[in-house]
Amino acid sequence: MKKLVLATNNLNKAVEIKELLEDLDIAVLTLQDYPGIKMPEEDRPDFAGNAIKKAEAVSAATGLPVMADDSGLEVDALGGRPGVYSARYAGEGSSDRANNELLLEELAGLPPEKRTARFRCAVAVAFPGKQTIVVEGTCPGRIAEKPLGEGGFGYDPVFIYEPEGLTFAQMPPGAKNRVSHRGKALAKARELLKGLV
Ligand code: IMP
Repeated sequence: MKKLVLATNNLNKAVEIKELLEDLDIAVLTLQDYPGIKMPEEDRPDFAGNAIKKAEAVSAATGLPVMADDSGLEVDALGGRPGVYSARYAGEGSSDRANNELLLEELAGLPPEKRTARFRCAVAVAFPGKQTIVVEGTCPGRIAEKPLGEGGFGYDPVFIYEPEGLTFAQMPPGAKNRVSHRGKALAKARELLKGLV
């Protein structure tokens, strides 16, 4: 059976990805199986660059195929910010709450039509001795006036998914994963992996 290492320290992501690849003939490992491996700094200017950097670093360290992702929120009125800085928008180590508060503050007074945004996710798969592949998924939406809903993480409470008229934090996790940037990128990566096993 082919092996694939997931280069993420986020257990929720690992579970989601494992489920998605369940019916492929692949043994999915995580960084918990390789406790000595340190993830490189996410210092590239775009999501794809960071995903490729993480996948290639862990592939070089393990000698195995490795999948990594990078994602974040792009707000049109902010010229695409917070983008690759989404996790640390309000400062290094900032909480989701602080990031959401800063975002709402920066958009204060803007009407709904000027609050457009999208989540973007890049998924890279690095293979020893081969070209790394990278795919992307996006999910368009609009930034709410105030946080709504208890579910999810990150910017979910302020991100309105318009077909449902709900924030991601108000939607059941299964419903969010079907339409999300990460769900779409992983579905594309899954198709590519299918051809390789
Ligand atoms: P990373 O891909 O784990 O590095 O995520 C970067 C940051 O983007 C997270 O800390 C969140 O702030 C934000 N983000 C990425 N995906 C989502 C999502 O599905 N919902 C809410 N926030 C997200």
